[in-house]
Amino acid sequence: MDLSQLEQVEHDALAAVGSASAEDELRELEVRFLGKKGSITSLTRSISELPKDQRGAFGKATNILKRAIVDAIEARRTQLVEGNVSAELEDMTFDVTLPGTVATAGTMHPLTQVQEQVEEIFSAMGYYVLDYPEVEDDFHNFEALNIPSDHPARDMQDTFWLKSGHLLRTHTSPGQIRAMGEFEAPFRAIFPGKVFRYEAVDASHEHTFHQVEGLMIDREVSVAHLISSMTIMLSEIFGREVTVRLRPGYFPFVEPGFELDMSCQICSGSGCKVCKQSGWLEFLGCGLVHPNVLRHAGLDPNEWQGWAFGMGLSRLVMMQYGIDDIRHIMGGDIRFLRQFG
Ligand code: PHE
Repeated sequence: MDLSQLEQVEHDALAAVGSASAEDELRELEVRFLGKKGSITSLTRSISELPKDQRGAFGKATNILKRAIVDAIEARRTQLVEGNVSAELEDMTFDVTLPGTVATAGTMHPLTQVQEQVEEIFSAMGYYVLDYPEVEDDFHNFEALNIPSDHPARDMQDTFWLKSGHLLRTHTSPGQIRAMGEFEAPFRAIFPGKVFRYEAVDASHEHTFHQVEGLMIDREVSVAHLISSMTIMLSEIFGREVTVRLRPGYFPFVEPGFELDMSCQICSGSGCKVCKQSGWLEFLGCGLVHPNVLRHAGLDPNEWQGWAFGMGLSRLVMMQYGIDDIRHIMGGDIRFLRQFG
């Protein structure tokens, strides 16, 4: 064992690394010289067999050699990789005249746009914007809203029942019960969301559509408040003066209950096809919260009153953009959606 042995290993290793022509070969060389059973490792092990005064010098030289081999392998590896890349580049033909791939950006769905607009209007007037479950139970969707199981009003809205006994909410009104349970009166809130009805689909009916419910709870609430709030909301949404009128309407959870019509936004009230020459469009259901509903939600009807409305967001979108078929809205046709960019 002497320094000439080291020279031999150095000579062999550097020659082999220099002539390696692929990365695989370099990996083999790493094993052969630097691996567990490699030359350097066995040289290091043999140091202990040397006379004491030679160990230091030999150890140092072995370390320097090891470093040299590691560096040589790394340098060769870089050379090979760069060589591959330039060979590839030389091989490649690149046609700069080919058309590129155009990245298309999505657009916000018109329902989302209108929903955000409604949310902004109401938030500015101090309303909470709340989100309640689409899967509901009988109590919240019917019972607590003064629609007991034998009530004919259950047939007004055909329901998707789930095997668990739950249902897909047929309107956003169950949120009234949830909101009254969640917030201390007085408060005001809107809750937009999807609703579901087991109905035949046609130009004006969808099984899935969007509503916004509004609820105001206070000590003294009147139909006048309701009318003025609806007028403000609609004028804000449409960006111009909108007039409304109320007709008696039946919903078990309000008393009195109303159908609210608004002046036709297409013909401004002079009569057209959309409003069937009447100048009015049937727009939403509303009324003063029925005392039974307040009771079900744990409020004392002698102390608290409220008004509520439920409006079709899909309808609102249709009116704003003059869309004549509700099926376009959730249809997902990209040609339709692109128009709202
Ligand atoms: N929930 C009713 C519907 O879907 C609308 C409504 C809400 C009516 C609140 C009165 C009060 O038709």
